[in-house]
Amino acid sequence: MGTDSVSETGKILIDAAKLVRANAHAPYSGFHVGAALIDETGTVYTGCNVENAAYPEGSCAEANAIGAMVAAGGKRIVAIAAVGGGAEVEPCTPCGGCRQRIQEFADKNTQVILIGDGGAIDCLTIAELLPAAFMLK
Ligand code: THU
Repeated sequence: MGTDSVSETGKILIDAAKLVRANAHAPYSGFHVGAALIDETGTVYTGCNVENAAYPEGSCAEANAIGAMVAAGGKRIVAIAAVGGGAEVEPCTPCGGCRQRIQEFADKNTQVILIGDGGAIDCLTIAELLPAAFMLK
């Protein structure tokens, strides 16, 4: 994926993440997250955070998007975007657990796309977000 296609894909994924963020169920934290990923076939999957009155039972937006990909037969995450915030979208990186979840379906080129400072689209690799990741041989 070249730089231009990363940014084009990035914009598409950020837009999809913003759309699904509107459906987040986050009455406890008030922090609404949307995630969108594209798999190796070019299919886009989305997820939002779904909180629960029993707090630990809530699930993250990235986890739900990854679950949708796996259920549909997708194998690899080419790029994943996440947006989060309260009333407004603000810079938000995946939590530690979601970094490990992304790693499971990542390769060395997998991009993690974020809203950066001032609303710019920022792009990191999973290796930058999760160096020395745990992996089973
Ligand atoms: N959250 C996500 O959905 N993804 C992340 O990577 C960070 C945190 C959710 C979990 C919880 O519903 C809310 O944001 C506040 O932590």
